[in-house]
Order: sequence, then C-alpha cells, then structure tokens
Amino acid sequence: MPNSKIAGIGYFVPERVVTNDELTQYMDTTDEWIQERTGIKERRFADKHKESTTSMAVKAAEIAIKRAGIEKEDIDFIIFATLSPDYFFPGCGVLLQRELGISKTEIGALDIRNQCSGFIYGLSVADQFIKTGMYKNILLVGSEKHSMGLDFTTDGRGVAVIFGDGAGAVVLQPTEEENKGVLTTKLHSDGTKAEELALISPGAHGGYFHDDKAAFGFNEKDETFGGIFVTDEIVKNKWHTPYMNGQAVFKKAVQKFPEVILEALNEVGLKSTDINLLVPHQANLRISQFVQRMAGLTDDQVYNNIQKYGNTTAASIPIALCEAWENGKVKDDDLIVLAAFGSGFTWGSALIRW
Ligand code: ACO
Repeated sequence: MPNSKIAGIGYFVPERVVTNDELTQYMDTTDEWIQERTGIKERRFADKHKESTTSMAVKAAEIAIKRAGIEKEDIDFIIFATLSPDYFFPGCGVLLQRELGISKTEIGALDIRNQCSGFIYGLSVADQFIKTGMYKNILLVGSEKHSMGLDFTTDGRGVAVIFGDGAGAVVLQPTEEENKGVLTTKLHSDGTKAEELALISPGAHGGYFHDDKAAFGFNEKDETFGGIFVTDEIVKNKWHTPYMNGQAVFKKAVQKFPEVILEALNEVGLKSTDINLLVPHQANLRISQFVQRMAGLTDDQVYNNIQKYGNTTAASIPIALCEAWENGKVKDDDLIVLAAFGSGFTWGSALIRW
C-alpha cells in the first residue's frame, strides 16, 4: 500500500496588511493587548469585492500544482477546508474546480467543515484515498476570508483581533518509498463543547439545542415555515458573527495539542526529540509556546507565523508549512508534525516524513 506525500505546496495571502493599530480605529483595543495575549502584530485582509475564499484558494492551488509538476487537469479529487465559504451552499470545492477551469474533468469535490483542524482532517481523508489507490493527485486546500464575517465593533473585539485571511494548498500523490510521506494522522472531537466556539446562525436549528429558545430569537408558538436562515433578529443580535469562550478554548487547546502529538508519535514508535519541525495551527502564539514547552521542543523545532497573518483557521497550517519549506526549514527526510485544535471541539495531528 502506498503512502501519500506532499508533492507540491503553495500559499497566498492578500496584499492588504492590517496592523493592530489600524484595528484601534474600529474598536476599543490596543496593540499591546493583542500582542501580549496572542502574539499577533498584523494580519492580511482580502479585498472585500475582488477577492473571495475561492479566489485565494485558486492562487495557492496554482502554485502547489506547478510545484507538483502536474497540470490542473491531472487533479483527480478536490478537498476544500473552510469555515468562511463563499456560499452557504454549494461548498467551495466545486467553485474551486470551476475557477481552476477544470469542470470538464468532472472530478469529485468535497468540503470539510472542521474549522481549525480542517486541514488535518482533509489530509487524513486524502491519505486514505491515496492509500487505497482510488486517487493519484489530490488537491487539498484550506482557505479563509474571515474579514467578511467578524464584528469589528468593541462587542466583537475578543474574536475579531485574532483572525486573518489567506489560503494554503497541497497536492498529494502516492509514494512507494518506505517510511516516507504521511506516516499517520490522528483525529478527535468533543461535540459537547460545540457552542463554546461557534457561529450558530444562520442555521436550521430553530432553537432546538437551547432551553431558552427566545434568547435565540425563536418563539415556540410560531408554527410558520421559513425565515430561519436570515432574520432581522439574527442581524440585530449579531448571531451571524462568531462567539468564542476564549479561556475555555485556550485551556482545552493546551491540553489536547500535546496529547494528540504524543499519540501520533507513540503510534509510529518515535519521540519528540525525533521531531525536526512542529507546525502547529496558528491559533495563538501563547498556545504554541505552551505546546512547545510541554513537548520539550526548542525554538528551532517549532514554526510560527501568527505574528504576521493572525489565525487563518483552515489555511494556517498549509500557509505556515509552505513558508517554512520556502525558508529552507523543511528538508528531505525531516520528520514534520502538524497539529491543530479548534471549534467543535475538533483536534488532530499528522506525522510526515518529508
Ligand atoms: N482588546 C482589549 N481588551 C479585550 C480584547 C481586545 N481585543 N478582547 C477582550 N478584551 C478584554 C475582555 O473584555 C476582558 O475584559 P474584562 O476583564 O474587563 O472583562 C479581558 O480583556 C480579558 O478577556 P479574556 O477573554 O478573558 O482574555 P484572554 O486572556 O482569555 O484572551 C484570547 C483572549 C486571546 C481569545 C484567548 O482566550 C485565546 O486565544 N483563546 C483561544 C483561542 C483559540 O485557540 N481558538 C481556537 C482556534 S479558532 C477556531 O477554531 C475558529
């Protein structure tokens, strides 16, 4: 059975740099607060009308495809991870296929909705397809246009200052080389914490999960149909912007990141001293530093770029991995560890022998 290897990798971030100081024009925050709590100095925001989650994905994908030495038409499956899709439906996978100009190939396109761990989930799915021999050139993309969906008033500052826009892509291919490519992936979730980091509307829940339905704008006596996806109430109460219980997420993240890294290492009989580079999901620099300490890794063994791009959710790992590779920090035969934790809660890890 072949392993899957990353044959090509690319990323794209929009040109527009938004500094912490710029955010102070829209909300009550400071550069000092943001840097101290998150490590973020600036992030990129897409052009509202000229760039989309899919258009950024196209740019990253074209680089990955070129570096893999294949043509777009050779792609035989698309996996697209995002929490900020261009449309509620259909997903971005088919839009990416269309925008790449390869609709004639009629290949399958799958959307992954696992937020910060979307790329790792996508990698794991791609790995299984390649191992079974079903596909030979899978395009896996993580892309986010967060700037469109955040609350940039002081009400939303706990969330809005963290996120940035961008896209990262890889092409996965089979390799017959022993002990090369994706060695293992580990996936986990805990749905009991779903609302701790969520954007619950627009959605079709109708208050189902909430005892106090009125607090979510639903009158139990109302038996009319429709009106659930976008209501004035949703907009007035800003339920269309994300909610995050930051401290709860932080506490769980620093526990689950090291746990899932260790689980993957144990499975293949390796230790943290074998790691050449850990590329953690860029959620918060403090989380990455905590994980580094827990795993006993040196600064050289961990790659962070949240300082420049903020948290780009499904795109953060491929962007950071690509940047690390371009900077010569990912070399042949290196043991690369990817790990993520986020909304769901979902978390996961992947070990790659480059
Ligand atoms: N500027 C200034 N003050 C702020 C800001 C801001 N941008 N945001 C919040 N505050 C204030 C709060 O109002 C609060 O004030 P109060 O004490 O007067 O009530 C105070 O700062 C502390 O707020 P906390 O939310 O407790 O701050 P915390 O130290 O927890 O940091 C943070 C917040 C950065 C969000 C942190 O909790 C965190 O990083 N959590 C994890 C995030 C994460 O990993 N998410 C997962 C990935 S994202 C995904 O999956 C989509």
